[in-house]
Amino acid sequence: MTAKEFKKNILCIGAGYVGGPTMAMIASKCPEYRVVVVDINQEKIRQWQSGEPPIYEPGLKELVAGCLDRNLFFSTDIEGSIPQAEIIFVSVNTPIKTFGQGAGMAADLQYWEKTARQIKENAASDKIVVEKSTLPVRTAKAMERILHAGGSAEHFEVLSNPEFLAEGTAMKDLAEPDRVLIGGHDSPAGQAAVQQLVELYAHWVPRERILTASVWSSELSKLAANAFLAQRISSINSISAICEATEADVQEVAKAIGMDHRIGPRFLEASVGFGGSCFKKDILSLVYLCKQFNLPEVAAYWRQVVALNEYQRTRFVAQMIEKMFNTIAGKRIAVLGFAFKANTGDTRESPGIYVVRQLLDEQAEVVVSDPQALPNARNDLAGVSGKLEFAEDPYEAAEGAHALAVLTEWDIYRDLDYPRIFAGMAKPAFVFDGRNILDHRQLYELGFNVYPLGKPPLVHI
Ligand code: NAD
Ligand code: UGA
Repeated sequence: MTAKEFKKNILCIGAGYVGGPTMAMIASKCPEYRVVVVDINQEKIRQWQSGEPPIYEPGLKELVAGCLDRNLFFSTDIEGSIPQAEIIFVSVNTPIKTFGQGAGMAADLQYWEKTARQIKENAASDKIVVEKSTLPVRTAKAMERILHAGGSAEHFEVLSNPEFLAEGTAMKDLAEPDRVLIGGHDSPAGQAAVQQLVELYAHWVPRERILTASVWSSELSKLAANAFLAQRISSINSISAICEATEADVQEVAKAIGMDHRIGPRFLEASVGFGGSCFKKDILSLVYLCKQFNLPEVAAYWRQVVALNEYQRTRFVAQMIEKMFNTIAGKRIAVLGFAFKANTGDTRESPGIYVVRQLLDEQAEVVVSDPQALPNARNDLAGVSGKLEFAEDPYEAAEGAHALAVLTEWDIYRDLDYPRIFAGMAKPAFVFDGRNILDHRQLYELGFNVYPLGKPPLVHI
């Protein structure tokens, strides 16, 4: 079928963790739409085209296989794909700025602005431009100004449609979203564009779950949602520190507070810290926004969520050093899990990066194990000095180790042959469970000295 024979032509600029899975879901649910995903990264596009996605996400490969080259296409021809698209999603990365004004805090909008200019230069007809990337509030205004600069003949209607998927569960989140949020202007053109997106999502999302709002509310809701989620983790992590000081049990506390339906049970799992490409970036973007709007108290409030997360990682390593007789120099430590969460190979902002660096600074010998994330781990830790190894096999990683440090909640770590691992480790053998996923009592009975997070330790020494 040619592009003209499809009911609608959709383009997505950016074939990453959001662009790829989101467009695969749209293509799968809307077979009468033609969906093209473009990227500047040729290797990524080649992988998408081959049917072997460049990212690991359960269920993604199968979904892509069902629509690839039917109504889902991947390409590096960005400029050539713009003219025929009616709806253009922009899903490029918006990392933290590393230079100049706002460095370390503000969102770096250079990739996003480049796409706005490309759309303007190559559009020969009206377009709906959809912000899929997470952006600071009022970015749509800047986008509109670029798109309409110099009085263009075409009309560009900018919508905000933030993505709420979480990695590892992306396909389920996309198939059954809690809500889809569409922000548009309160003008006839704005509302007509909103309706086009509503129609698209209504192919599979119940109407009552499709929310419409102003563009500014939609942009802010995305930052606020991530800030609230991260805040819950920092809150429970702060409680984990009190638990360790008082012999309370953070899982018991989480259960007790989570059964209050006003609080709810989810996102109350204490951990070595939250990671991922977005929580820190989006909170800092919110903090920067507060500063720009002269709201220093609000900025300080949200900044503390990130500060507590940094504290939690450092606290975890400090605990390891202290419990291993105040020195880990020359001791082999098996790091089990390097992905920022289970079921993904993504390591962006993973606590593992920070923990391993701190362990190496203490001159420990570190061996990193992970079922999916070792290629990324090798990149993240390239050039760090110290004795560092990688071993996909957890048994190989644990052989001769003084301690195991669980940093990712992969299911495989729950059911390892711990008698075998214990037998091969240096004694006394330690376990530091940064995710509270192991059977601590069983490990203790095997002879391990067990340090869970926010729970009383189980020790023989
Ligand atoms: P990503 O880095 O995986 O993908 C972004 C892609 O955009 C890259 O492949 C990059 O090559 C491409 N790109 C950059 N500039 C381009 C240009 N000018 N033209 C064409 N392609 C270009 O990033 P991601 O994780 O998919 O995140 C994208 C956005 O979505 C971010 O704003 C992020 O905050 C947001 N988000 C991410 C997640 C997530 O789980 N990763 C969830 C919700 C929202
Ligand atoms: C998060 C949000 O959950 C998504 O809604 C959002 O779309 C996305 O960010 C984004 O904007 O990028 P994600 O980072 O993929 O998704 O994964 P989460 O499940 O939120 O986990 C984030 C981090 O918090 C992980 O390191 C995870 O291990 C940690 N976490 C999560 C905890 O430490 N405790 C918990 O109880 C929950």
